Amino acid sequence: MPNRLGVRDLTVAGKRVFVRVDFNVPIEDGEITDDTRIRAALPTIEYLRGQGARVVLASHRGRPGGERRPELSLAPAAARLAELLGTPVPLAGDCVGDAASEAVDALAAGAVVLLENLRFHAGEEANDSAFAKQLAQLADAYVNDAFGAAHRAHASTAGVAKLLQPAAAGLLMESELRHLGDTLENPERPFLPVLGGSKVSDKIAVISRLLDVSDGILIGGAMAYTFLVAMGRHVGDSLVERDKIEVARDLLIQALELGKPIYLPIDHVITQEFSATAETRVAYRDTIEDGWEAVDIGPATRAMYGQILERAKTVVWNGPLGVYEIEPFAHGTMSIATILSTLDATTIIGGGDCVAAVEMAGVADKMTHISTGGGASLEFLEGKELPGVAVLSKAQ
Ligand code: 3PG
Repeated sequence: MPNRLGVRDLTVAGKRVFVRVDFNVPIEDGEITDDTRIRAALPTIEYLRGQGARVVLASHRGRPGGERRPELSLAPAAARLAELLGTPVPLAGDCVGDAASEAVDALAAGAVVLLENLRFHAGEEANDSAFAKQLAQLADAYVNDAFGAAHRAHASTAGVAKLLQPAAAGLLMESELRHLGDTLENPERPFLPVLGGSKVSDKIAVISRLLDVSDGILIGGAMAYTFLVAMGRHVGDSLVERDKIEVARDLLIQALELGKPIYLPIDHVITQEFSATAETRVAYRDTIEDGWEAVDIGPATRAMYGQILERAKTVVWNGPLGVYEIEPFAHGTMSIATILSTLDATTIIGGGDCVAAVEMAGVADKMTHISTGGGASLEFLEGKELPGVAVLSKAQ
């Protein structure tokens, strides 16, 4: 991957700098329940303020489909950012037009404004050139710090960067690209990714790519059962993507040809009901009865995965190993979080569920890198070039 221009390469004093951030944070009853993405953008914002830039922040929130939906306003994010920075952060009533330009004109050097949700305009997701031009008129320089949205070719992540050259990566973007990039290009070995989640279909490309660059893959979550069926195993009523059995078989063959193991659960926590009070049993290998469904890896698998991971020097973890939101089915996911926290290895965590799991397990600070990107980190691991990165200017 070519080196990209970074925010520290720009001369920004007194200039209006458009900074695309990802403030798409979970909000319940007007309260932000996880402000990680806002905190992750602070280094870039603080840096620009310190340089005397006039900081124009822009973000999407949710999927309002091009309509102004007050419940998807960025007002809670502006309020939280103001608290974190200890300075007022006004929210411009719109991201383009008079409301936006008046708010930007009022900015003093070192001050910050947040524009209202970009996706209130259909032009954002359509990467409409007229909309990108309106955004570009608000600033003299462009910085993309929204790694979480870098897999989207939208007006604020792609279109505007072409109009406001040079386009630089923010400090969060740089850190994400460095950690994920180094891991894929030059991992310390053994490199053993752990992949979970419910759908093989979401992970086909990433499994295939990681088989090439890793030393073997540990699989858990519901998607393990599509693989087990592909191997001719009986899985009771466990979730299986029938139309992906062939794909799972191809991935198993790819692994065999490469001489790399795909580890699958050898026992399973099973239930008849998705509830915290439901009866659970442990089933070994092929003994999941009909009417019962696997919802977590079992204790023998936890021990086996722990032993395998003990020798790992690099681990990328994406996707939970069970229905971790329900406490009795969370042991597999929690045990992976705990095991990773004890390793003398580079540990990279991606995807909202795994980030939540390492936080629930109280081990987030033990991980080498926690990615702020869900879909973006997955596409990066697949080896795709992210549109929001591709448009950034190359470093000289
Ligand atoms: C995310 O939450 O993964 C990013 O903010 C991107 O959001 P999107 O999937 O709605 O584009």
